[in-house]
Amino acid sequence: MNVLVIGSGGREHALAWALKASPAVEKLYCAPGNAGIAQVAECVPIAVSELEKLADFAQAQKIDLTVVGPEAPLCAGVVDVFRARNLTVFGPDKQAAMLEGSKDFAKEFMIKYGIPTAKGCACTDAASAREYIRQEFAAGARGIVVKADGLAAGKGVLVALSEEEAVAFSDQCFDGEFGSAGAKVVIEEMLTGEEASIFALCDGKTIVSLAPSQDHKRIFDNDMGPNTGGMGAYSPAPVVNDLVAQRIEEKILKPFLKGVQEENLHFRGVIFVGLMIENDEPKVLEFNVRFGDPETQPVMRRFEGDLADVLYKTATADLVNARIAWKKEPAVSVVIASAGYPGKYAKGKVIKGFEEAAATGAVVFHAGTAFKDGEIVSDGGRVLGVSALGNDIAEAIANAYRGVEKISFEGAYCRKDIGAKALKR
Ligand code: AMP
Ligand code: GLY
Repeated sequence: MNVLVIGSGGREHALAWALKASPAVEKLYCAPGNAGIAQVAECVPIAVSELEKLADFAQAQKIDLTVVGPEAPLCAGVVDVFRARNLTVFGPDKQAAMLEGSKDFAKEFMIKYGIPTAKGCACTDAASAREYIRQEFAAGARGIVVKADGLAAGKGVLVALSEEEAVAFSDQCFDGEFGSAGAKVVIEEMLTGEEASIFALCDGKTIVSLAPSQDHKRIFDNDMGPNTGGMGAYSPAPVVNDLVAQRIEEKILKPFLKGVQEENLHFRGVIFVGLMIENDEPKVLEFNVRFGDPETQPVMRRFEGDLADVLYKTATADLVNARIAWKKEPAVSVVIASAGYPGKYAKGKVIKGFEEAAATGAVVFHAGTAFKDGEIVSDGGRVLGVSALGNDIAEAIANAYRGVEKISFEGAYCRKDIGAKALKR
C-alpha cells in the first residue's frame, strides 16, 4: 500500500509512526509533515488547505489510502474531493464533518438520537444570548459554557463562572472575534466531573471504540490557566471503568451509528467523543471528527496490529473484519511547548537532546518542528510530545519525564503533573 497522511502535528507523527510499522505499507508520505515525521515518511510540501493539489498528488503517486489528520480539511471537504476521484480516504465527508464544524449541528444530532449531553440553546444574536445567560444565572447556575458554533482552533469555548464573563465572551463572538464561526453561539449547562476522550472507528456499518485516553487541557499544573490544544495525555483512562465503557457503548456509540445511518452521513473515519463523566455517567461535551492530539500519541504507543489495514478497512466499509488489540501497559505523552503558548510565542529555537531522549526508551513525537540550517528547530506552540510505556501508570509517567529531561530548547515548557489524576485513581 502507498499511504498518504495529511497534517503536520503530533497526531500525524504518531499515526505515521504506527503506519510505518504496518507490513502492508510500501511507501508512506505526509503532507506537509514536520521535521520528526520526515524520519518515518516522505514529506511533501502541500498545505492541508490545498485540497485539489492533495488529490493530484494521491493520483500521481497511486496512493491506496489517504488518512486525514486535522479537522480543517475535513470540514472544507477534502473527503468529497478524493471520493469524486475514486481515491480511498479515511475521514468523514463535508456534511458529516459538521458534527465537529458546527456545535449546533452536533447538539441537534445528539438530541435527536438521545445521546446524553449538556442542556443548551443556540443563539443567533447577542441580545437573545444575553437573555438566556441572564436567565440561567438567575435560576441559580454556578457557571455556564459559551461556545462559538464553528471551528475556532480550540479558542471558541469559555467556561464562565459569572454572568459578566459569559456575556462578554458571547458578545465577542457576535462581534466577529472568530469570524463567521461566531455568528451563532451555543450556550450550555456547565457539567462537572472528569473528562475523557473516546475514539471510535466508524465505517457507517460498524462502530468500534479504541482505547480510552485522557488529555490535560489547561496550560498549568493542577488544571490551572487557559485552555490549550492539550498539554499531555495518557491511555487507558481509569475513569472509564467497565461500567462507564458499557454506557459509552450503549448510550453514545450505538445511537451515534444509528444517527449516521438515518441521516445518510458518509462517515468512514474516527469519531472522537469528548466526555464528561460524573458518578459513572458519561455525557458528551463535543464531537470531533478526527483523532485527538495529544491523545493519539499514547493511544498509538499502545496499539497492536496493522494500523494501515485497520484504517483501510474503515475507509472501505469493511471495519467488521479489522483486528484491533492493545498493549496492557499504559502510555503517557508529555507535551513540551514554547514559552508563552497558548498566547504569543517565539519559533526557530534549536532543539537538543533527541538521541539522549530516545536512549531512555521514549518516543518523541514532533508537533511543531522544522529544519533550519541542518538543525531541528521549534515551529509551533506545542513543539514535541515525549511518550513512554510503563508496567503501570506511575512507571509510564516516570519514563516519559525521563525522556523529557533530555530535551532542551530556549523557552521549553511542560506541565509536571501529566498523569497525576490517573495515579490518584
Ligand atoms: P469543547 O471544544 O466543546 O470540548 O470545549 C473545550 C473544553 O471546554 C472541554 O474540553 C471542557 O473542558 C470544557 N467544556 C466544554 N463544554 C463544557 C460543559 N458543558 N461543561 C463543562 N465544561 C465544558
Ligand atoms: N486534545 C484535544 C483535541 O485534539 O481536540
